[in-house]
Amino acid sequence: MESQSPANPGPLMYRQMADWWPLISHPDDYADEAAFIHQTLEAHITGELHTLLELGSGGGNNASYLKAFYRLTLVDLSADMLAVSRRLNPECEHLQGNMLTVDLGRIFDAVMVHDAIMYLTRQDELLQMLRNAWAHCREGGVVILLPDCVKESFTPETKQHGRDDGKRALRYLEWTYDPDESDTTFITDFAYLLRHPDGSAQVFHDRHVMGLFPRRTWIEVIRQAGFAPRWIVDHWSRDVFLGIKKSPDLAG
Ligand SMILES: C[S@@+](CC[C@H](N)C(=O)[O-])C[C@H]1O[C@@H](n2cnc3c(N)ncnc32)[C@H](O)[C@@H]1O
Repeated sequence: MESQSPANPGPLMYRQMADWWPLISHPDDYADEAAFIHQTLEAHITGELHTLLELGSGGGNNASYLKAFYRLTLVDLSADMLAVSRRLNPECEHLQGNMLTVDLGRIFDAVMVHDAIMYLTRQDELLQMLRNAWAHCREGGVVILLPDCVKESFTPETKQHGRDDGKRALRYLEWTYDPDESDTTFITDFAYLLRHPDGSAQVFHDRHVMGLFPRRTWIEVIRQAGFAPRWIVDHWSRDVFLGIKKSPDLAG
């Protein structure tokens, strides 16, 4: 199973549908989570936190809050999603790149991967991403990983959501299920119903293949990449993983 790459650009949501992103997922829905991320980073970092690299930053919804505290560098595979985020966060640095391989040639106080991490479907990809995060993180800094779910918390479900923006409207059905419990993926099928300003309507189907790993795998790959792992449960009962990059004299 491949992750997104320029050869395999992945879900429609981040290409043709990107312009509709604020009707799928709006900044208003992120205030509490961004506050939690801010508090958690501050609680785990050694020294001051000024610079934050977000890998897979998408439409920049979390960034729209975190930019009040930090200088943000936002990296995403999708040029279309970066364009959405640039409109919301013009003061942030935006760069196109793959979280597995991007090389910015500089280090940050903290590195964050939010729900974009769900698109890594193999353990070796998690490790590759964490090694890359390590290369971009200063000593005493932290990496924070916020997957939507882990193997132990996964539940098949169906949700519906969407918004109007005054001219356009979108509703979607999100149907999550795991056809093969023995592998490290599950599927989310999205059905979008778009209403255009002229009143015409369109329907799209969009399949997202996502990674599903047990807690012990997350902890193991964080350790393998060289970080000291931490595991916490957030206010919404989701698993959050951190890696502390200790200086060699503090390592252990
Ligand atoms: C759900 S969106 C992120 C939304 C984001 N949390 C926000 O606050 O707006 C997931 C993003 O991950 C990006 N993505 C997926 N795989 C990636 C990879 N290997 N490297 C960089 N970005 C990736 C997609 O292009 C997409 O923009």
